[in-house]
Amino acid sequence: MTKIAILTSGGDSPGMNAAVRASVRTACYLGHEIYAVKNGYKGLIRGDITKLETNNVSDIIQRGGTVLKSARCEEFRTPEGRIKAANVLREHEITALITVGGDGTFRGAKILADEHDINVIGVPATIDNDLVGTDESIGYDTALNTAMEAIDKIRDTADAHERLFFVEVMGRDVGFIALETGIAVGAELILLPETLTHPDEIRKSLKEIVEIQKRSTLVVVAEGDETGGALKLCASIEEDFKEFDMKVCILGHVQRGGNPTARDRVLASRLGAHAVQALHDGHSKVMVGIINGVIQLTPIDETFGKKKEINFDLIKISKILR
Ligand code: F6P
Repeated sequence: MTKIAILTSGGDSPGMNAAVRASVRTACYLGHEIYAVKNGYKGLIRGDITKLETNNVSDIIQRGGTVLKSARCEEFRTPEGRIKAANVLREHEITALITVGGDGTFRGAKILADEHDINVIGVPATIDNDLVGTDESIGYDTALNTAMEAIDKIRDTADAHERLFFVEVMGRDVGFIALETGIAVGAELILLPETLTHPDEIRKSLKEIVEIQKRSTLVVVAEGDETGGALKLCASIEEDFKEFDMKVCILGHVQRGGNPTARDRVLASRLGAHAVQALHDGHSKVMVGIINGVIQLTPIDETFGKKKEINFDLIKISKILR
């Protein structure tokens, strides 16, 4: 029997609860004890830990946010902070930690494991979908659908008034949300950090759009795009395109909330269950992912800090279909 702790950390993403539920129930099923850490690494340092049973995770699979709460914790970035966290785990005789989150969460987990000999398993949960080792991370599909529904509404009003909207979607360093949402809403132009669009190319594309006389125009911009985001981009070109009535809409944190889609609930259930299975089988310092439908374990330090390949075929298609 292993004592396992579980926490959610960094930016929350829809489906985190489904992952926690799956880990708790799988741990109980396999005869392990599992403990909830509240408020991510911040709560770990403070010793905010309680034992969980199967019934404690009832009625959460459908909820957005995270019942374990989350935080971005500066103290955990320091060796002293991690000593406190490791001591808390030792006091509870906990030897394994499941961390549900994104790159920052995994970076911290890897250092904790190296410094304090704690078994760690990562469960990828970030709407950005920027982790290597899984085709999709938990929350990405829900964020796509949220952004798509919002932009469909923007299309209605853009069409009514013959306007051009710059819509900024989340994606700090990557353009996964922008690219797939852009395709889904039929965006006329999609701007991603991965494609480094030159300002002249943007102007050329807008001129082409003027020529084909579209009633409404949607430019979907990833927040991490080199243009600096939708507001800056609009300000830099509106003088030169008087034919457009331009507006900016930044979707922001609405993309992080809401009930997870069926796809995210299933993904989270599989990943949460297999995280415990991985610990049970003696693995540590790995992230559980799904590639081409199959569960895969990837060394946790190979999952972050690398550029996850965007689908360049989608970029090609988006240019043809606009
Ligand atoms: O990493 C997920 C994410 O939603 C990014 O897309 C975004 O840049 C960031 O988190 C925002 O973080 P915060 O909520 O801490 O401002």
